[in-house]
Amino acid sequence: MHEPVLLSEVISTIKPLPGERYLDATAGYGGHAKAMLDCTNNYAGSVLVDRDKTAYDYLVNKFDSTGIRFLHKDFYSAAEVLIKEGASFDLILADLGVSSQHLSQASRGFSFRSEGPLDMRMDKRQPLTASTIVNEWGAEPLERILRAYGEEPQARKIANAIVLGRPIANTTQLADLVAKTTGRWQGKHPATRTFQAIRIAVNDELGLVESVLPLWMALLRPGGRLGIISFHSLEDRIIKRFFSEKGGNRYDADLQIVTKQPIVATPQEIAFNPRSRSAKLRVAAKINIKRKDQR
Ligand SMILES: C[S@@+](CC[C@H](N)C(=O)[O-])C[C@H]1O[C@@H](n2cnc3c(N)ncnc32)[C@H](O)[C@@H]1O
Repeated sequence: MHEPVLLSEVISTIKPLPGERYLDATAGYGGHAKAMLDCTNNYAGSVLVDRDKTAYDYLVNKFDSTGIRFLHKDFYSAAEVLIKEGASFDLILADLGVSSQHLSQASRGFSFRSEGPLDMRMDKRQPLTASTIVNEWGAEPLERILRAYGEEPQARKIANAIVLGRPIANTTQLADLVAKTTGRWQGKHPATRTFQAIRIAVNDELGLVESVLPLWMALLRPGGRLGIISFHSLEDRIIKRFFSEKGGNRYDADLQIVTKQPIVATPQEIAFNPRSRSAKLRVAAKINIKRKDQR
C-alpha cells in the first residue's frame, strides 16, 4: 500500500478544523485525505483529485458513500473547473510526484528496477509516453531535459547514446544503456537521474506545479492553509520561490508562511518508509483580507 508521508506533520501544521472544506489535489490512495477528513468531517464540501485512473478508482471505492466529490483530472485542470464554479476551500494539500504503486507496478514503466514498457504516464489518456521521448526525440531536446529535470552531469553523453541505441524497447534496456554509457558507479543507480528527467517531462510535472500555484491561491479562502509536499529540489525551488514572493513581512503579503524551514521526515519515518527520505513539507496560510485592510 501507499504509505502517506509526513502524516502527523501535515495535520499538526495545517491544523484542519471541524467543518472546513478540503481540496486534495493529489489524493492518491487517500491516506492524507482520510486523516484530514477525520478532522474536518466535511465531506460534502470537499474534493479529491487524481489524474491516475487506478488511484481515482481506488478513491471512489474508498470514499464513495461519504458524499465527497471526485475529479479524475490533473490538478491544474481541476483547479480551473473549481474556479469557474466559484468554489473555495479552507485547506488545500498537494503531495506531489508518484505513488508507491507507480513504482512497484512494472507495467507502468516508472522503475528501472523491473522490466516494463517505456510508459511513465500518470494519466494514460495523454498521448506522450516515455517511449516517444526515448525513441523519437532528437539528441538536443533529450540532453536538455536530462540536464534540466535530472540535473544529470553526463546529459550529452547519455542523450547521444540513447539516439545511437535505438530502438529501445523497455525500461531495463534503457537503464542498462545508461549504466554502460556512464561507467562504474557507487550508490545510486546511474539511470536514476535519467528516469527522473523523462518522468518529469512525460508528466509535465514542473510546468503544472508552476502554473497551478496562483490558482490554488485563488481557491483558498482567507485564513485557509495550503500544504505542499515535494520530493526533489526542482519542485521545492518553485514552491519556495512562490511562497517568498507571496509571503514575508511585506504590508501587501498574501501568505503567511507557517513553516519557516521545510519540514522533513524523522529518522524513524525514513526507516519505516524510505520514500519519505526526500520529502519536504511547506505550509502557508492565506492572509485574512480583513486583517490586511486594517493595517
Ligand atoms: C505521492 S502520491 C499521493 C498520495 C496521497 N497523498 C495518499 O496519501 O495516498 C501522488 C499522487 O498524485 C497524483 N498526481 C501527481 N501529479 C498530479 C497532477 N499534476 N494532477 C493530479 N494528480 C497528480 C499521482 O497520480 C499520485 O496518485
